[in-house]
Amino acid sequence: MNLKLLFFCLFLAVLLVPAELKRKKRKHDRHDHDGRKLGHKHGKRKDRFEDIVSDKVFEILEGNGDDDDDEDDDDEDKSEWVFKLQEPEGLCDPNPCHNNGVCEQKGKRRFECDCPRPFKGKKCKRGPRHCKRGRCGRGECVLTSTAPFFECKCKEPFQPPSCIHLSVCEPNPCRNGGQCIKDGNDFDCLCPVGYGGRFCHVGPDDCYVDDGESYRGNVSETDDSHVCLHWNSHFILENGVDPFNSFEDKDGLGPHNFCRNPDGDDMPWCFYRQGRKLTWDYCDITECLTTGVVPTEIVPTDDDPTDPTAHTAKPTTAKPIVTTKPTTSKPPTTREPCQTPKPTPTPGEVAPTATAPPQQFATCGQAQPKKPITRIFGGLKVPPGAVPWQVSLQVRPKNSNQHFRHTCGGVLIKSCWVLTAGHCIESMKDMQVVAGGLSLDIEESTEQTIKVEEAIRHENYRETPSAVYNDIALLRLKGADGVCANETQFVKIACLPDAQLPDGMECKISGWGVTEDSELGSNHLRDANVLLIGQEKCSEPKVYGRVLDNTMFCAGHLQGGVDSCQGDSGGPLTCDQNNSAVIYGLVSWGDQCGRKNKPGVYTRVTNFLTWIRSKTQAASP
Ligand code: ARG
Repeated sequence: MNLKLLFFCLFLAVLLVPAELKRKKRKHDRHDHDGRKLGHKHGKRKDRFEDIVSDKVFEILEGNGDDDDDEDDDDEDKSEWVFKLQEPEGLCDPNPCHNNGVCEQKGKRRFECDCPRPFKGKKCKRGPRHCKRGRCGRGECVLTSTAPFFECKCKEPFQPPSCIHLSVCEPNPCRNGGQCIKDGNDFDCLCPVGYGGRFCHVGPDDCYVDDGESYRGNVSETDDSHVCLHWNSHFILENGVDPFNSFEDKDGLGPHNFCRNPDGDDMPWCFYRQGRKLTWDYCDITECLTTGVVPTEIVPTDDDPTDPTAHTAKPTTAKPIVTTKPTTSKPPTTREPCQTPKPTPTPGEVAPTATAPPQQFATCGQAQPKKPITRIFGGLKVPPGAVPWQVSLQVRPKNSNQHFRHTCGGVLIKSCWVLTAGHCIESMKDMQVVAGGLSLDIEESTEQTIKVEEAIRHENYRETPSAVYNDIALLRLKGADGVCANETQFVKIACLPDAQLPDGMECKISGWGVTEDSELGSNHLRDANVLLIGQEKCSEPKVYGRVLDNTMFCAGHLQGGVDSCQGDSGGPLTCDQNNSAVIYGLVSWGDQCGRKNKPGVYTRVTNFLTWIRSKTQAASP
């Protein structure tokens, strides 16, 4: 009998557990059985008092960050000192000055950038620094276009204007008649029926249709309860992203932190800060029911749910000012023809038939214009067509029908020819290349899979325990009528270089290799910028000593960090020459990855131009 009672009580307890505790990842119902709800998610609430005060970014500094303008001088460009270390020559070409700064060479080793206002710094990278560290106490600093050009968005319960002093529930931060419930230095908003969000700022009709491109509602938290950054947040700009210039559909963006979908993603999302890293996630947002309910244009309650003064303040229409531009401005140069395969067939290739478009691969080194930012978790991925000459070299045991697996990168230089590293060639394997793909685990409509007919490793290829020499190979692809890869938006050839490029020049590497957070390699193609390092510098005892010869060169960052790694081998290091990407290096080897004074070593392609030409033009079937 007692046991029955116990079970009955248990049963009741289960029934009465608040719905909140059981909420699914993406919910469609914002209220509990009371009809009222706390404006946050139980159990995993972020932005509690403790989180805010222990957050280094919101540290309150003596003087509140009001000191002089030069405070941040040294963080302008972390690669600056490497640049100096490498003692580049021909310093103004390519133009090292950003934001249209004019470069002037000063003697042999120095250059000066004449920066247009308001940009400053050695390379004109630094815009006005209105949001200095500590300026907003425990609050987010956002940029505005009117003086004083910044505004502090305090983290509740810290109060404006400088977000140093706190006051819990006074004034009431909850909107729409929400009741503020004090809990020590924390608070909860108890929202009226239908309202949700941490400040009850999300109304009952707040939902998105289709992919949420038209969404103009008030949700400002991610799926995991992270508070969204304002689109004009200084922190976003500081990370090289300017949302107002990065996305096609920026109408919905503004000086607020509401979720939006400005870039054709699947649903509204927002940026948030994770420690010192900028990242993003989809929002905790409701999809409109499809039964004819069209969301009424949701009038944002005000510009900022985290700012309790906002309902009295005039909504600001100020656009953010841009402090830094993520791209380097280049001097205007006329495009010279690069070393492309001539439209006339080479002896090794049969003339294209009527089925092959005559324009195939007529130019080289032209990628799709890169949108300034493409988001993936924990980093930025390569957008489609940004490295269209990159291929994945895949192998499987000879004559087996196992799955092909990625082993190395490669570079398309002609419809039927791929350059890769010599050490990527395994004689007992069948090989194929996949061009035009970004993801290794998803079959994409843009990709072309082509069998390798023949692998030609350089005759002087040599491996020692400390280095790999003449690490280059050519793959002849299988095709019909001289056409193997077909030129598309996503598949293009890189140009061959015709000159040595200056040390210190910024070039690009890419691949599916090992990254900091993926030991087995990345499923998504990634790219990074590296600097060419002088041979002398790289042959110093603390770097690679005497093992280097002229079939290789170093590139990367001597302080460590950005580097290629296992799985990237054979892939491209391309540099810009006359506005075309030339294949200057192939990922070859390195002492582990990303270590200080151990940059990546790349095959020096300029050393093998005659070899490449002789092989690709030889009259072989
Ligand atoms: N050998 C490696 C591969 O086969 C490439 C290593 C590059 N290492 C470096 N630190 N850059 O994929």
